[in-house]
Amino acid sequence: MAELNTKPTKKRETFSTGLAVFFATLGSAVGLGNIWKFPYIVGSNGGGAFLLIYFICVIFVGIPVMVCELYIGRKTRSNAVGAFKKLRPGTAWKGIGGMGVAAAFLIMFFYSDVSGWVYSYVFKSITGKLNGVTPNTAKVVFETTSSGAILPIVWQGIVFIVVAAILIAGVKNGIERITKTLLPILFILIIICDIRAFTLPGARDGLKFLYNIDFTKVNGGVILAALGLAFFKLSLGMGTMITYGSYFTEDNNLLHTPIKVALSDVVVSLLAGMAIFPVVFTFKMEPSSGSGLLFTTIPLVFSKLPLGNLLLASFFILTAIAATTAMISLVEVPVAYFSEEKGMSRRNAVIFTVIIMFIFGTLATLSVNSSSFIGNIKILGYGFFDLFDKTSSNILLPIGGLLIAIFVGYFIKKDDLKNELMNNGKLNSAVKFDLFYFIIRYISPILLIIVFLSGLGIIKL
Ligand code: TRP
Repeated sequence: MAELNTKPTKKRETFSTGLAVFFATLGSAVGLGNIWKFPYIVGSNGGGAFLLIYFICVIFVGIPVMVCELYIGRKTRSNAVGAFKKLRPGTAWKGIGGMGVAAAFLIMFFYSDVSGWVYSYVFKSITGKLNGVTPNTAKVVFETTSSGAILPIVWQGIVFIVVAAILIAGVKNGIERITKTLLPILFILIIICDIRAFTLPGARDGLKFLYNIDFTKVNGGVILAALGLAFFKLSLGMGTMITYGSYFTEDNNLLHTPIKVALSDVVVSLLAGMAIFPVVFTFKMEPSSGSGLLFTTIPLVFSKLPLGNLLLASFFILTAIAATTAMISLVEVPVAYFSEEKGMSRRNAVIFTVIIMFIFGTLATLSVNSSSFIGNIKILGYGFFDLFDKTSSNILLPIGGLLIAIFVGYFIKKDDLKNELMNNGKLNSAVKFDLFYFIIRYISPILLIIVFLSGLGIIKL
């Protein structure tokens, strides 16, 4: 293994304690992926069987790839591109980091749009605009929120201002404090939603939908969607976890943290699903109705409850916070790249990145209204919103993950890897390491290739 050519770098920040590391990483993973995306993707792909495939993807691909990314980050203490330059100087491997920077932009184009909807729902719930909604008015509110020409873009702009402000404040102050205190509160609020949802008449059908395993709806596209969701959920395949790994403490257990994060993340997703599907079945909505699912269901959960408004406002505030911490981890990838590789000041890197994201992000936002000019532009059959979403989750992230698995499994000396993952012998985890090493060399890459080819229709499962 090449010596690390540590160029004299500015002193880098790290997270301060093991708990802060866990929460910051979880803060990246938990976001709109759990609360907005997970329920509607499960809904559009048939429920329980999809869920089972999703779990398999998390265990055999997601967790191992997360270990690899954290390893690459902590070992090199570098941004996503610089990390590969240090480990394999002068090779094309740094292209993985470059792809990651590109993916961060694509994801943010639509993620900022949905975050804008969430921010506007915070405002709407506080000002009482969601008081006593019915299924029909909830739908109308969502449509006016998402498909106007000006307001959604204003909200999207506000999202970027918040994200930029936190990122300029820096990793430790910005990220650590927020995630550590607020994630636990979000968790409790979702549980309150669940308790209420369980009392609805459609609760049984909703839960059955989520847990009933019916393989007749499964095809290559469904499996690829599960894989894409696993990557998206755990923030993998594009260098977020490399960048966060670079801020990890030396004593963190890189084999355990991903398991804990993945488990907690799945729990949050399931809790969100269990709050939403009872509403869907109570009010005879379509589980596969798509990206508005969260916004048309949750206001109904609270509508007839004492203190319902307060709870609804708190729910959207915390969802906005979860979305924001996830966005910070996305935007941090290009920011760390521009500031460490291209010599920009951190502040300029943040402003430059955010402005570009905002400009192209408006394309996603305007494409939601299918009767507008932008909404009518289709590329490969998709409008901009779906195009950005699908190319990132279902193509770029899995390819990034595959290359990362191959890189760590085949191009890093086993002893070096083992040393780093066992914290130079301080951890007693040789058996776990062997299991991880086997999975990352033989199982993850093969699964990734099969799912990918079948999702694209190149092979039939
Ligand atoms: N995981 C986050 C969510 O579920 C989104 C996210 C943050 C992400 N960083 C990422 C997705 C990196 C892919 C890659 O909302």
